[in-house]
Amino acid sequence: MGYFAKSSAGIDLDRLQEYLNARSINAYLDSVREAGERAAGIVRSMLDFSRTGASRREMCDVNEILDEVLKIALLDYDMKKKYDIIDARIIKKYDFLGARGMFVRSELTQMFLNIIKNAVQAMAENNSDGKIPQIILSTKGTPETVIIEIADNGPGIPEEKRSIIFEPFYTTKDPGVGTGLGLFIAYYIVTAHHNGSITVTDNDGTGTKFIIELKKE
Ligand SMILES: Nc1ncnc2c1ncn2[C@@H]1O[C@H](COP(=O)(O)OP(=O)(O)O)[C@@H](O)[C@H]1O
Ligand SMILES: [Mg+2]
Repeated sequence: MGYFAKSSAGIDLDRLQEYLNARSINAYLDSVREAGERAAGIVRSMLDFSRTGASRREMCDVNEILDEVLKIALLDYDMKKKYDIIDARIIKKYDFLGARGMFVRSELTQMFLNIIKNAVQAMAENNSDGKIPQIILSTKGTPETVIIEIADNGPGIPEEKRSIIFEPFYTTKDPGVGTGLGLFIAYYIVTAHHNGSITVTDNDGTGTKFIIELKKE
């Protein structure tokens, strides 16, 4: 509460504080925050638990996993929905030799699905101008890593939001549409389980591009 001058927005902050205390609103907000932190902790330990279970590293071809994810996304087809991957143009730029490594297949599937679903949803919100939704999937192998780029031509993510989209429960979607957990889970899978990194940029000003780097093992 100490950030603003007392006269900020014409509100007497001492009296506002009194009001918030009288109505127990501060305590309420604290408990909301605690509940959020507890839920994030539960998700974290679920992800850790899944690592000790069936999720072992095995030789995977990332191109194959991406193709599998596209199939799953297509199965998600639903006439009631206003958006669908079936409407999108998919461009693949695969490195057919270098995209193999020791990864946890089910986790990469989940991670790519979360990112591609976001792209589909974002492009659907933004297609009033008749632009054909487009997703570019590219893979590139280096001796130690596989680098995957997933680019869409949707509305993009404002620069000041790019550092918080990976936080648990950050969502711009309506309740029931978004949980704000998709990118948090993606981040966790990449960084904690694959010694990798995930970053986001604008796609040269025409949308959103996620860049994922996985360490081959
Ligand atoms: N491809 C994208 N284009 C535009 N915004 C995106 C994209 N991917 C993610 N976002 C933003 O990041 C937020 C968090 O994504 P996510 O963690 O998957 O949660 P959710 O999809 O449940 O909202 C989204 O609500 C959206 O605002
Ligand atoms: Mg999502």
